[in-house]
Amino acid sequence: MINIAVLISDKGRGTNLQAIINGIKKGKISGEIVVVVSDTSKAIGLERARKNNIKVEICPHKNQLIKILKKYQPDFIALAGWKQIISDEVIEAYTNKILNLHPGLIPDKNSGTVKNPNGTDGLWNRGLLAEKAVNNFLVNHATYAGSSIHFLTKEFDFGEVLARTFVKIKKNDTIDSLYSRIKKKENQNYVEVLQKLSANSKFTVMVIDGGGRGSAIIDKYAQSPNVEKILAVPGNDLIPILVKKPVKFFPYLKTTDIKEISEICQREKVDLIDVAQDDAVAVGLVDSLIKSGFKVFGPTKAAGRIEWDKAWSRNFMQKFKIPHPDYKICKSYKEGIDYIKKQKDAKWFIKASGLAAGKGAIYSANKKDAINAVNSMKNFGKAGETFLIEKCLIGEEFSAFAILNGKKFEIVGFAQDHKQVFDGDLGPNTGGMGCSMPPVAITKRIESQVKSIFKKTAEGLVTLKRPYLGILYLGGMIDEKGKVWTVEFNARWGDPEAQVILPSIKNDLYELVSNTIKNKIPKIKRDSLYRVAVTAASKGYPNDYSEVVGKQIFGLSTLLGHPERSEGSLKVFGAGVKINNGKFIVGSGRLFYVLGEGKNVAIARKLAYNALSLINIEGDFLHFRTDIGWRDLARYNRRR
Ligand code: GLY
Repeated sequence: MINIAVLISDKGRGTNLQAIINGIKKGKISGEIVVVVSDTSKAIGLERARKNNIKVEICPHKNQLIKILKKYQPDFIALAGWKQIISDEVIEAYTNKILNLHPGLIPDKNSGTVKNPNGTDGLWNRGLLAEKAVNNFLVNHATYAGSSIHFLTKEFDFGEVLARTFVKIKKNDTIDSLYSRIKKKENQNYVEVLQKLSANSKFTVMVIDGGGRGSAIIDKYAQSPNVEKILAVPGNDLIPILVKKPVKFFPYLKTTDIKEISEICQREKVDLIDVAQDDAVAVGLVDSLIKSGFKVFGPTKAAGRIEWDKAWSRNFMQKFKIPHPDYKICKSYKEGIDYIKKQKDAKWFIKASGLAAGKGAIYSANKKDAINAVNSMKNFGKAGETFLIEKCLIGEEFSAFAILNGKKFEIVGFAQDHKQVFDGDLGPNTGGMGCSMPPVAITKRIESQVKSIFKKTAEGLVTLKRPYLGILYLGGMIDEKGKVWTVEFNARWGDPEAQVILPSIKNDLYELVSNTIKNKIPKIKRDSLYRVAVTAASKGYPNDYSEVVGKQIFGLSTLLGHPERSEGSLKVFGAGVKINNGKFIVGSGRLFYVLGEGKNVAIARKLAYNALSLINIEGDFLHFRTDIGWRDLARYNRRR
């Protein structure tokens, strides 16, 4: 699937453009015309573009072209009668991407020759416009006239030739009669060249994330026939083992290293960047990459504020009537403590307003706990300088995900995370100890409330001129009356929610994301399997696990060679596992995720836990929860 920009002028009648439009409509070319650019509004071809609802841009000066092209991010640029000289800046930015129709039979090399179909030497020229070029064939008594489609290079009228049109010259041919026969053939030639390019086009995708979520995203892109190569920043050591396409990763980079990431994207000619990590969104990586002309999937800093500034986010919910708990924003510990002292005893969440790796929300069962939690906000540094005191919502939690572009969105899926570190939802909050999907709790009634929340959110962000592009994560709560409340929004996939939802999606991820960027969000297709992902962690996580770092992990190679894995009912996604001298070593708290897939929750759980039973960490330091999916398992057992 390719995006094409067609550049025309007032010289021709737009027949090449029309041929490309028809080629796409007939399904010969897999792609679409993202823009038709003309140097003048008088070009006849513009009417053809408008009739077909294709965007049109007028570019009177050659130095404005690069800006227009960066806005539409075409994979190929088809020059079809374009008059302006293409600047070196454009040629460099789109090497082997600009197709030129040259009215002559140019050879492959400038020292070479072209053979006509009858074996005689073809005539070629340089720098002649169409009619003069046709006349050149006639005055030189050539047997064949023709034209060539080639990649534009800085070497004027040369570059790899992709196709040639040959037309036998008749005795009484005039410029007009000969030219009209050439045109007919070359229109078809243009379609055939684009057809071939679209069939052979493979893209390079960069994923900004290093954990299990990033692994699941990469795994999904790798399944797309459109994707040839994947870059991961920073990625992790298990990705090259688990993903079946070439993946290059950059372990020395942080997801917030804007300059370095941008340089890699230039150097590696990255076609699409998927920014999946919250801190990258918060520093404005998306904004910078878009400015440099890249195709990026992920929210801008302004839109991502819905996650990275929880105080702002609650005020947003209040303004747009999105159901949320009572809250108080505090700018000092004293303010928070004074407020709590004046309240009746209650259950609260004390939340750092900034990003805190999923650990910034502290549950408090009473005033004393709440005051302690306020004092602990200093542990989050700048992220905890502003914090919220929120009434605790009681009910069943779930995570919902939508893919958005401005006001448009589609719900991608639902899952249930298990945030606390121990079985029975006990202990401190973690980044996520496991996930199950699809949750039985999500009835049609719940889904329609979720839809309304996403709608209000998408529209609210557009109203505030912060249009959102990317995956939006709603952390929701269903109360005892069946009402849905918003616990939080995140500007990204959940981790480990991505590890259960992405494998369930039947859409080609590259096409889904590319079409969403073009604001044509397709319907989401999912399979009907149940999925349970269990997090394998270092004992001590989310607190101190330093004594576990560097210890060897046993059984992982057996798990990776497990027959269920090759049959597709078991998947592994890496995170904090390091590979050292061929050994698997503990690198951080959450190590990897084991995903079981089956026709019900019991089967999915069994697969995941059987697989985990193969694993241990030197010194018995492996930790995982044994009750992931417990709610749905209980419902499943009751129904049987
Ligand atoms: N699963 C929790 C999160 O990604 O924030």
